[in-house]
Amino acid sequence: MSQSTITKRLTAPDVFDRKGNERLVALTAYHFHSAQAADPYCDILLVGDSLGNVVYGFSSTLPVTLEMMIQHGRAVVAGSSRSMVVVDMPFGTYERSKEQAFDSASRIMQETGCGAVKMEGGRHMADTIAFLTARGIPVMGHVGLTPQSIHTLGGFRAQGRKELEARSNGANAPGPIEQDALAVEQAGAFAIVLEAVVEPISRRIVQASRAPVIGIGASDACDGQILVLEDMLGMTPRTAKFVRRFGDIGSSIQQSIEAYATAVREGSFPSAEHVYGTAPGGKR
Ligand code: KIV
Repeated sequence: MSQSTITKRLTAPDVFDRKGNERLVALTAYHFHSAQAADPYCDILLVGDSLGNVVYGFSSTLPVTLEMMIQHGRAVVAGSSRSMVVVDMPFGTYERSKEQAFDSASRIMQETGCGAVKMEGGRHMADTIAFLTARGIPVMGHVGLTPQSIHTLGGFRAQGRKELEARSNGANAPGPIEQDALAVEQAGAFAIVLEAVVEPISRRIVQASRAPVIGIGASDACDGQILVLEDMLGMTPRTAKFVRRFGDIGSSIQQSIEAYATAVREGSFPSAEHVYGTAPGGKR
């Protein structure tokens, strides 16, 4: 089944209730037109701060501002009617205090009309997640590989290998990623994005969490999947191991632009049907 059967916009409780039921389909969207294209097929549209890389060409998500997220969030809400729109909280706008997080998140909710915010971080963000959810702001968590912490993580690589090793040496207590996911879930997150986590650890987290776990590079054990739209369409030059290219739009765009440039240069565009009130014999 490809087209979603939803007729009214999904809410955080609807998403929470999907645990153990139909898998959640999520994609990023940053623009009105991509939201319109993805909305009929998705449950969740994430206005991810990955727009910093994809739309603005930054080398990380750190320079993304609240204003950028709000502008793109508005466009995606305008372009959708069924999917739940979740907007990422950008780096530096929520980590300092619960109050700072509430101020940023409430602006995002008020100015975009989205249904929830997403924030990166595990145990250290649990109090903030509880504070926001108690005040009417649904929060999606994000643990595992958290791109806003790229400088402390030291690079984009799969998370949980050490936990796996400890487990093979007999350890059974939840490791750090599991502890992070469960802290976020217990704080009230309605769903958790799990990014680039080794399969056995993902599986344990999915089993332990009451909230649906949406994987990106976290295996088919998850309750749903998310990808960056431009990655799966084949519009971005390099992608992670976990991305499947469902299209090759990048080369199609280039071919179309090349055809346009050729037509303009050789004078075959515009032709008569693209011109208003053409004078007889008016071709140059
Ligand atoms: O910013 C983003 O696009 C994300 C997804 C990769 C989950 O956080």
